[in-house]
Amino acid sequence: MNQQKISVKVSRVQQLSPTIKMFEFIAQDAQLSTFSAGSHVTVHMDEAGIRRAYSLISDPKRPQHYRISVLRDEQSKGGSAYMHDSVVEGDELHLSPAENFFPLVQDVTCKHILVAGGIGITPFMSYLYELEAAGMDFELHYCFRDGANAAYVNELRERVGQRLHVYDNALDQHLSIEQLVKGQDKNSHLYVCGPQPLINAVIEQGNAHLGEKQVHFENFGAVASTGSSFEVHFQRSGFSLEIGEGTSILQAIEDDKRIAIECLCRNGVCGTCETSILEGEADHRDHYLDDDERAAQKTMMLCVSRAKGQRLVLDI
Ligand code: FES
Repeated sequence: MNQQKISVKVSRVQQLSPTIKMFEFIAQDAQLSTFSAGSHVTVHMDEAGIRRAYSLISDPKRPQHYRISVLRDEQSKGGSAYMHDSVVEGDELHLSPAENFFPLVQDVTCKHILVAGGIGITPFMSYLYELEAAGMDFELHYCFRDGANAAYVNELRERVGQRLHVYDNALDQHLSIEQLVKGQDKNSHLYVCGPQPLINAVIEQGNAHLGEKQVHFENFGAVASTGSSFEVHFQRSGFSLEIGEGTSILQAIEDDKRIAIECLCRNGVCGTCETSILEGEADHRDHYLDDDERAAQKTMMLCVSRAKGQRLVLDI
């Protein structure tokens, strides 16, 4: 990430639910640029030495300010905890320019079906501006575990009315992805953002009933984390894992369940799973570190990067 950073001031912080806060940024020097729906920015929390990517939820064509929403991850010792606990109105932060790995297909002739799980609603907040501006046909399906922690339900009801369908698991409301997809025209575009099981289910049903070209999810370049097996020792946790040929370090940790790792993109883009290397060298496969950072071998992304040798020792 060598792009020029944008200096911004936090102009507003709003608690949207017990676990979600909205942050609004205005530019300090130059103006903020327009962006395309589905874009994200990387927030540099310089004081904490942390960077995290968040979807922009504001109007892409009216960049007087940028807005993001941040879910506080209870396991977080990093980005989301810092944003919630330490960032207040008036603070200065830096952003990397907006990038988009999840664009809306600009097709006014067919329907666009958006499926969001929890905080996965965020990229669709900017989609709505483009869909509405172009008069495109759409429907939004918003699933969450508990209405008390869902952001934007009331705003979305007002904004899109009958096009919004909500599924509150706490009220035993569940989306049947198969039913949803089966009932659509074959040329409909299907988008999904949220937890991996939801993404996987939508991709599976979408591919089966609409075809791969009609199914869209945040695609950061599909980095393959495959290669020779190696051992990783987690220094602070005091145990080791063997990472198999077809498994990422992140996946091995999740399968093992003894520790939890904060992650977002799972494709080496957002920096959420960045971890310090204590011994060994990483085979970097991410899109996040720049050449100097890669050469320094101080940190690596657990979701995609592997070991160059037989063993790594990580600061976890
Ligand atoms: S989860 Fe985004 S870089 Fe690993």
